[in-house]
Amino acid sequence: MGLGWDVHRITAGRPMILGGVTVPCEFGLEGHSDADVLAHAITDAILGAAALGDIGMHFPDSDPKWKGCDSLVFLRHARDLVVQKGYTIVNVDSTIILERPKLKDFRIAIRARVAETLGLDVDRVSVKFKTAEKVGPVGEGRSAESQAIVTLER
Ligand code: C5P
Ligand code: MG
Repeated sequence: MGLGWDVHRITAGRPMILGGVTVPCEFGLEGHSDADVLAHAITDAILGAAALGDIGMHFPDSDPKWKGCDSLVFLRHARDLVVQKGYTIVNVDSTIILERPKLKDFRIAIRARVAETLGLDVDRVSVKFKTAEKVGPVGEGRSAESQAIVTLER
């Protein structure tokens, strides 16, 4: 099993990309890559399950190569690394914590995009959504967080 967590600051003038899906919104997420907070958490969970370090070790944010990068590239790379080690991904569960917009209408699209990237059936990929009840930086609309857990089998 592997655990992943990520946070990105909310800012105007950037897209809101979650699990490779662009969610229509008047603000987005700040970051060196496309700031896909969900893809980053799932990538860390995959790497963590195989003790392969973390996303920053494989894709340093100081490297101009990853500027504006589609984070599904990171996700796919993490999957390829664990497959090379003889593992298959059993399932992915995740939560995005974001005050707004409402994400439930995008659940199927996000699950499908992550599943396709990882070469999994969609019923092996779960994505949940929570607000932070207006409390703290997430609740005040200043950031978005994501958590993920991944199981592998050999
Ligand atoms: O945070 P809270 O428990 O109030 O969220 C209730 C429901 O609203 C969640 O279970 C989820 O289905 C949905 N939700 C959403 N988009 C968000 C936050 C929550 O669709 N950004
Ligand atoms: Mg990140």
